Amino acid sequence: MDKLAIDGGTPLRGEIRASGAKNAALPLLCASLLSPEPLRLANVPRLNDVHTMQSLLSQMGVALDTSKPGEVTLSAERIDWPLAPYELVKTMRASILALGPLLARCGEARVSLPGGCAIGLRPVDQHVKGLEAMGAAIDLTHGYIHARGKLTGAKVVFDMVTVTGTENLMMAATLAEGTTVLENAAREPEVADLARCLAAMGARITGAGSDRIVIEGVTRLHGASHAIMPDRIETGTYLAAVAAAGGSAAVVGADPDSLDAVLLKLCEAGAAIAVDGDVIRIERTGPLAAVNVRTAPHPGFPTDMQAQFMALAARAEGTAVITETIFENRMMHVQELQRLGADIEVEGSSAVVKGVAKLTGANVMATDLRASACLVIAGLVAEGRTTIDRIYHLDRGYERIEDKLSALGARIARVK
Ligand code: EPU
Repeated sequence: MDKLAIDGGTPLRGEIRASGAKNAALPLLCASLLSPEPLRLANVPRLNDVHTMQSLLSQMGVALDTSKPGEVTLSAERIDWPLAPYELVKTMRASILALGPLLARCGEARVSLPGGCAIGLRPVDQHVKGLEAMGAAIDLTHGYIHARGKLTGAKVVFDMVTVTGTENLMMAATLAEGTTVLENAAREPEVADLARCLAAMGARITGAGSDRIVIEGVTRLHGASHAIMPDRIETGTYLAAVAAAGGSAAVVGADPDSLDAVLLKLCEAGAAIAVDGDVIRIERTGPLAAVNVRTAPHPGFPTDMQAQFMALAARAEGTAVITETIFENRMMHVQELQRLGADIEVEGSSAVVKGVAKLTGANVMATDLRASACLVIAGLVAEGRTTIDRIYHLDRGYERIEDKLSALGARIARVK
């Protein structure tokens, strides 16, 4: 199994390019199920989760052309198997995103229940409830969601903000008869990116990016081309790495507007940020200040950046309180940070992080995607060598992380 070896202590300098967003790519790939005509996606990140989703779609009968780098053309002329089997869903919860489009297009879908995952229980009751409101008959048997029926427009009020829940129902509603209104919808930029693509396919959607989305169903969607938005979490992770390690760098091809909460917190931590079009420059030469963080749905501070900010706080001057409000078990990086010498106490859903003068390299284990990113950042500032095991988590969501960090001057290598 691959590991990452990092020799910390080098400030980061240079320029890197943001990749396409994982959490936009996954629903966009599923959107191809909605039309018999080809959907061409550009700026597709090379990630394990993207490959898993492509395998899932291919098993259903979708033809994929991946011959051009960074592009995928998906043709769902026929869907032979409206099925997402347990073997794939258990490796990637986002497979649930196939449910809405399959049901809307085929009148039937069978998708495995995702079950628990490392960062929390993560039920899918809101997806199911919404589809039932739209007229689907749903059975939960043998670990599968079996949905059938012709969808009609409905009003859905989500009990909590759910990103993939919003995306699933928005996709399903594009082909439903009549108008669907989604209230308390997720405002994440990836929802708006999906809506742009669906609109290019002929869907009638207003309000995506707000908490009220209205979808007027149409009888058929057509082919389209869409460039996937830049990955705001990947960008934020590299910016946090520069803030932690010190130095001066730029991320080009980024989407600064999707990162307001993160950029403000980086400034509070002592970094200077300058935005110029799609370029975000960051410089940190002075001391690193402790900043409190409380995760919240967009436009609040993203849960997907919580772990990276804990690595920052571990080396900052002062004490930071980091509170996770979205997932119940997203603090697994704490124990690993402690192995590097961090002073952290967890009280309920908050971590009290007292900054220490130095972290020291050690062997650590990645437990989930963003926890892994946190350990990479900690390794970049720790004295000596940090070796991170189980980096397959990183490969799910960061494209060539060691190459990008090496380009910034980090001493990082993948070892077999
Ligand atoms: N929830 C329910 N019932 C539902 C749906 C959600 O109780 O039917 C709860 C969840 O258990 C959680 C909260 O609602 O406590 C929010 O979950 P949400 O549904 O928004 O999460 P998700 O859609 O499964 C997406 C991202 C995650 C990101 C979250 C929150 C994708 C593919 N995944 O997950 O990304 O953390 O939104 O922003 O878009 C990551 O990239 O590392 C990652 C985990």
